Amino acid sequence: MNKKEETFYTSEYIGSLLSETSDSQNYGLPHELITLSNPIVETVRSQAREIMRSLIGYKELMMMYKCAIKEVRTKLEILDTEFEIRHKRNPINFIVSRLKTTSSIIEKLRKKNIPFSIRNIEEYVNDVAGVRVICSYVDDIYMIADALIQQDDIKLIRKKDYIAQPKPNGYRSLHLIVSVPVFFAEQKKHMKVEVQIRTIAMDSWASLEHQLRYKQRVAERPEIAEQLKECADILSEVDSRMLGIRMKIEENSSDPTEEEILLEKLSRIDRPIE
Ligand code: GTP
Ligand code: MG
Repeated sequence: MNKKEETFYTSEYIGSLLSETSDSQNYGLPHELITLSNPIVETVRSQAREIMRSLIGYKELMMMYKCAIKEVRTKLEILDTEFEIRHKRNPINFIVSRLKTTSSIIEKLRKKNIPFSIRNIEEYVNDVAGVRVICSYVDDIYMIADALIQQDDIKLIRKKDYIAQPKPNGYRSLHLIVSVPVFFAEQKKHMKVEVQIRTIAMDSWASLEHQLRYKQRVAERPEIAEQLKECADILSEVDSRMLGIRMKIEENSSDPTEEEILLEKLSRIDRPIE
């Protein structure tokens, strides 16, 4: 690339395209191009402006999804904290979240034969914002899901219960697509978030199966698919038995009284807030 071309692509030059009133002579453009005031130059300028607007719009949308993840995470953390105080155990082990990459968004729309646009991302890609909740026991999954869905600012868009009806390969998890309002300085926006809720056992199976699927075409190896399904069944049995053990222990211990809850809260006052 020679010197002239380098100057041509500076950010100042791009900035000049965005500004209707800019003086192009300051941006190292060839004289012939500056004086050229014809419809083609105007079209290029207006297209450049359009691209910049789209890029900014996309960045803003991603920022909004990020905020929606924060909202949902906070709601889940509050539920966990409240439960911990009332029942002295945490239903949530940990939460992970992720923003879908641009390449995955493009790929998803391409598979559905839908053009890439901000409107189409919002309408057709449900998992741009993803939150995964890893619970201790199977009943915690439904308790957390119900407590989240019943909040009056949360709208349930879709629910898939792969625990009641596991996928043929053995995958188990509870999937929710929810819409959550996010308050910005000048607007309130309802954003979609995919929430996957599962136990530690379900999560370890899904993670390993996901890794293996990348290494091998599992579907084309029936013996491997069969073994994976067997592992899923064993883990499902482990989940049921662990829940059974917890329930047996709980049978012998009653829920704390109001006084006990107050005392527990008092004992926490001195602890630093996390
Ligand atoms: P996408 O799979 O996201 O295109 O949408 P969908 O409408 O098919 O959603 P579904 O609720 O069935 O699955 C969404 C997500 O769940 C996936 O993106 C994965 O993260 C996870 N998932 C679903 N099936 C499996 C599976 O068989 N194995 C693993 N490891 N993860 C799965
Ligand atoms: Mg997905």
